[in-house]
Amino acid sequence: MKICMIGAGYVGLVSAACFTEFGWNVTCVDNDPKRLDELNAGRSPIYEPGLDDLIQRNMKAGRLIFTSDLGPAVKSADVVFLAVGTPMRRGDGYADLSYVFAAVDELAPHIDGFTVITTKSTVPVGTSRQIEDRLKQLRPDLETAVCSNPEFLREGSAIQDFTHPDRVLVGTDSEKARAVMEALYRPLALRGSPVMFVSRESAELAKYAANAFLALKISFINEISDLCEQVGADVQEVASAIGKDRRIGDKFLHPGPGYGGSCFPKDVSALVRTAREYKAPLSIIEQVDRVNHERKIAMAKRVEEAATGGLRGKTIAVLGVTFKPNTDDMRDAPSLVILPLLQERGATIRVFDPQGRKQAEPLLPGVVWCESSLETVKDADILVVITEWNEFRALDLNLVRAQMRGDALVDLRNVFQPATAREAGFRYASIGRA
Ligand code: NAD
Ligand code: UGA
Repeated sequence: MKICMIGAGYVGLVSAACFTEFGWNVTCVDNDPKRLDELNAGRSPIYEPGLDDLIQRNMKAGRLIFTSDLGPAVKSADVVFLAVGTPMRRGDGYADLSYVFAAVDELAPHIDGFTVITTKSTVPVGTSRQIEDRLKQLRPDLETAVCSNPEFLREGSAIQDFTHPDRVLVGTDSEKARAVMEALYRPLALRGSPVMFVSRESAELAKYAANAFLALKISFINEISDLCEQVGADVQEVASAIGKDRRIGDKFLHPGPGYGGSCFPKDVSALVRTAREYKAPLSIIEQVDRVNHERKIAMAKRVEEAATGGLRGKTIAVLGVTFKPNTDDMRDAPSLVILPLLQERGATIRVFDPQGRKQAEPLLPGVVWCESSLETVKDADILVVITEWNEFRALDLNLVRAQMRGDALVDLRNVFQPATAREAGFRYASIGRA
């Protein structure tokens, strides 16, 4: 099977590398020369655990090629994936499909014979049909089959998610395309992963519905955590009690500073727009978006409250700025809202993130970057944990406290045990624990 993957970002790169592990040949096409230089030197331009190894091994085996030359890759492919970005469109919150349609226009002249074209990018319902219409215009000589094959991997555990998915979802109404996609995913089906075939509209909408539902769970537990603080309950006990009910499930019930990332915020926004456009508004999901926006602002306030006598002149040590651990991705990270609010109130911010600095530095002007947790906390008045990198869990809080000037610890991810933090001499504030 020959695959052309257009887009070597978080999804395209992981999908391309994982497909080569199944034995398929993949040409990954990107139009960013810097990215291609790094890849061709055997380095992943993004931080994703395990990805460097996978790329190097499969490049060496000759199954994985990186190029900007779309033509030959499309010409020889059985399947062409579109894995380019679909960010939030400025001004109106819809999904910006300009990268998708630019790629369609670029690939169309090169299609040679029956080729499955499929979206892996998250695209609004109806997009696969629009792509098919566009291809029919550009190449009336072709038999076209455009599928929707949304991706459900998470950053930070992307390889495991891609190779052990809860399901693979393919939207198609072409028997011929179905046969190709069945063959493509046979290695996963043989290992017991369900490969589901549905209509293109169902596949496209299911992707947005899944992300919106997960976002809803997070906003729900964040509001429950506020209530826990008022009534003297512990949100972790509540979450684990409700999570035992299999109808609810225990995943995505960790309270925190609000969800971020390259997908939930933009996908929630795009789904809300689609629903309004079709006059079937999703009022619950509109509220999820609102709750999440307010959450980040409330977290900055929480830090301010922890500072006795206001933030002016205070030094805040921040551990973790990426939107979640095990990624360097800063897109829509809660830290991008929280830190500027703290700076506005006169605080000096010192930051350490195990992988995020390169992407975060241009987005967080005026902060002082440090190389380790202990360097960050030196002479700080307040310590704030925004992202729960594992290495923060192992910190010796007595040592941390000894380095600091102040005694406030605001743990926005419940990384530490309240008793341990208090024993180390901290005034400890966490989430949803009275
Ligand atoms: P990304 O921005 O990391 O990567 C997109 C890549 O496409 C970039 O490297 C860019 O240079 C390249 N590109 C853009 N136009 C191109 C063109 N015409 N030709 C060749 N290359 C081109 O984006 P991402 O995070 O990988 O997301 C891609 C899509 O996958 C989005 O729709 C997203 O919603 C969806 N998705 C992302 C994740 C995730 O965890 N990031 C998970 C599931 C789905
Ligand atoms: C999410 C989905 O989990 C993937 O299934 C989907 O493919 C992807 O979006 C996408 O469409 O791009 P991702 O954004 O990589 O994956 O990471 P998540 O683990 O879902 O975390 C998203 C945000 O929610 C993070 O800011 C995280 O800290 C937050 N979160 C997550 C919580 O606050 N609480 C939780 O219990 C879980």
